[in-house]
Formats: sequence, structure tokens, C-alpha cells
Amino acid sequence: MPLVCCNFSENRININLYPRLKLCIEYIITIICWGLQTRVYTIIFLILGRVAWKQKQYRYSVYVYPHIPAELLEAHLYIQRSPKLVLHQSKPDCIYDEILNNTDPRLNWEASKKIDDFSANGLVNGSYAPEHCNALFSVAIIVPFKNRHRHLDIFLPYMHNFLRKQDIHYRLYVIEQQDEKIFNKGILFNVGVKTAMLHKFPCIILHDVDLLPLNTTNLYVCTNEPRHMSIGIDKYRFMLQYEDLIGGVVALKTEQYVAMNGYSNRFHGWGGEDDDFYHRLAPQKLTLVRSHVEMTRYTMLGHPQERLNSNRYKIMRDNNKRGFIRDGLSTLPNVSARISNHPLFTLVGVQL
Ligand SMILES: *[C@@H]1O[C@H](CO)[C@@H](O)[C@H](O)[C@H]1NC(C)=O
Ligand SMILES: *[C@@H]1O[C@H](CO)[C@@H](O)[C@H](O)[C@H]1NC(C)=O
Ligand SMILES: *[C@@H]1O[C@H](CO)[C@@H](O)[C@H](O)[C@H]1NC(C)=O
Ligand SMILES: *[C@@H]1O[C@H](CO)[C@@H](O)[C@H](O)[C@H]1NC(C)=O
Repeated sequence: MPLVCCNFSENRININLYPRLKLCIEYIITIICWGLQTRVYTIIFLILGRVAWKQKQYRYSVYVYPHIPAELLEAHLYIQRSPKLVLHQSKPDCIYDEILNNTDPRLNWEASKKIDDFSANGLVNGSYAPEHCNALFSVAIIVPFKNRHRHLDIFLPYMHNFLRKQDIHYRLYVIEQQDEKIFNKGILFNVGVKTAMLHKFPCIILHDVDLLPLNTTNLYVCTNEPRHMSIGIDKYRFMLQYEDLIGGVVALKTEQYVAMNGYSNRFHGWGGEDDDFYHRLAPQKLTLVRSHVEMTRYTMLGHPQERLNSNRYKIMRDNNKRGFIRDGLSTLPNVSARISNHPLFTLVGVQL
């Protein structure tokens, strides 16, 4: 039967339009069903669907965005040591030119898969300071964690190999949620920063466990403004996904984190908490800075999609309206947090 029902020009004055429209829709559905039963069609549909989804994802992605040029980064650095760092009177201050000026075009893909062939030289309780000079920077690296042991086994040796070459004083904190409740990254960050404050770190880097930096010039220190560090992620074609993105790896002064009242404690599950954190910058007159994508390339360790938090938009709107002082570091719920020291990291075990 011809698809005469679709010739609407004939039906302009036809009051029987609706039965014909119904017939037309039935035709289309029949064709789609027939197509779906045929393998070729299924494959084509799947490919088109995938392409459309990816295009949607990359719609807001950009490769070039406002950033601090590599040669100016040095002028933005926040030079501050922890008062707990023991200085050697006889030794000079460390010099960072060599790292910052390095234009080595190779990326650092060496990911040690095993902890066995890794040397823990110079590491005490997850902390390191160079021997031959006095570091100018003290940095607490805070890694929220739950059930991703495969990632941690790669992350720890990789990061220590990467960071020990940078001549900075740092300490790596793993903040583990040790209960069966839904992951709450915000609470883990708040607990982690409180712990780093006990150890008087002036600068913190909030770090996802599944991201590994690839460019050795990516110096792990704070700038005067909060700095988003994980921009070029291989999984997202090394592009910035959207302008307000702050998640992944971010460096900021401890006092800035406190002024922003830290992370929200209210987001359970995946999504929303980072955007909420971004919204806390403006009221403190802080702007987020970035380095160019080439300097801040990362690789992402694969993992299945986490459970999405369906409440995320509601909480974000609510926090924007009520102000951030009522939800964050200052209102951290009374969770149990136990600190224990391991050679490669300081563990803070948290139970919500
Ligand atoms: C690195 O660059 C800065 C400014 O661009 C320059 O002053 C300095 O001498 C350079 N250092 C080295 C080791 O090339
Ligand atoms: C690493 O970053 C520097 C800028 O600091 C850049 O010149 C270099 O090309 C980057 N390397 C790679 C492999 O992207
Ligand atoms: C927090 O919990 C601990 C033990 O669970 C309890 O001893 C302490 O009093 C609580 N603190 C507050 C402020 O509720
Ligand atoms: C490292 O941790 C152990 C065990 O908690 C502790 O006894 C030691 O004092 C710590 N060392 C330093 C340098 O903090």
C-alpha cells in the first residue's frame, strides 16, 4: 500500500485527518520494528545513537579557554611552607625553573602497575621533602576513596614517582569512607582538609583517585587564585568539558577552602558536589584560574559509572539560595574519623 496518508496537501480539508495520521504513525512504527529485527539496522541505529550522544557531550567542550600562559605561571605561585617542615640551615632553597621551563614534548605514561618494583625512598607516612634543598612549597594532597583498590594500587606509586621529582614538600592523604552508605565526597574532603590543617599545610590539592597527571611540568603547588588542574583528560579528548568545571584535581590555599566553607555535606552519590563547590568561589570574590591544556593533561583510569544523585539539582538550588554558610566545613556532621599512618599515605578512615 502506498504511503498516501503522508500526503497532507490532499487532506487540507479532510476531516478524516486523524485516522490517517494514526495509520501513518503505525506505518512508521512498523518500519522501525522491522528495522530493529534486522541486524544491520540495529547496528546502524546503535552507531548513530552513540555518535549523537558523544556530540551532545562535546557540544560545550573547548580546547582553548582563558588560562595562565606557561611562562607566566611562576609569577602566580603561592610560596608558603608548613611551619612543621624542618629546614636544613646548610642547604639552599629549591629552584623550580627546570620543571616549569621544561618543554619536553613527551608525556609521562609510565604507570607502575605493581607496588613491588617501587622504591619508597624518602617517604615517611605518605610525606616527602627533598633532601638536597629546602622546599618552598608544602602541599597536602587529599584523595577521597571508597572501594577502588585497583585504582589506589596504581595511583600511589605513580603519584609518588611523579611528585618526588618536583622538589616540593607534600603529604598524601587517603580519606576512605569505610561504611556501606552511599559515597559522600564532600564530607570526605572536609574531613581531609581538617586533618591537613592539623599538620599546618597552607595549600591543598583535592584529587580524584582515577586521574594521573601526564605532563611533568604540571607543578603540584598552589597559585594565588584557586586553580583547576585536570583539564585535558584523555577520556574527554583533552578538552575542557564546560566552563564552570572544577572537579577532578583542584589546588587552592587552605584559607580559601575555609573561607568557602569547604564542600557541601549534603550530596550523596555522584554529581552536583563539584558544581556546588564552584558556586562558592564568587561570594568570596575568588576566580578559578587554569593552565593551558598541554600542561594539564591527565589520563583517567577506567571505571563503571557511579550511581547518579537524583537530588543534585535541588540541593544546588537550595544552597545557592540559602547561602553556603549553613552547609559545609563549619557544619561537618559528627562523623567518626580515625587517622593511621602507612608508608605511602596517611589514611583517614571515615564512617558516616
Ligand atoms: C626559566 O624561565 C624563566 C622565565 O621565562 C627564566 O628567567 C629562567 O632563567 C629560566 N630558567 C631556566 C633554567 O632555563
Ligand atoms: C607540557 O607542558 C609544557 C608547558 O609547560 C608544554 O610546552 C609541553 O608541550 C607539554 N608537553 C606535552 C607532551 O603536552
Ligand atoms: C560525636 O560522637 C562521639 C562518639 O560517637 C561522641 O562522643 C561526641 O560527644 C559527639 N559529639 C557531638 C558534638 O555530638
Ligand atoms: C609516622 O607514623 C608513625 C605511626 O603512626 C609514628 O609513630 C611516627 O612518629 C610518624 N613519623 C613522622 C615523621 O610523622
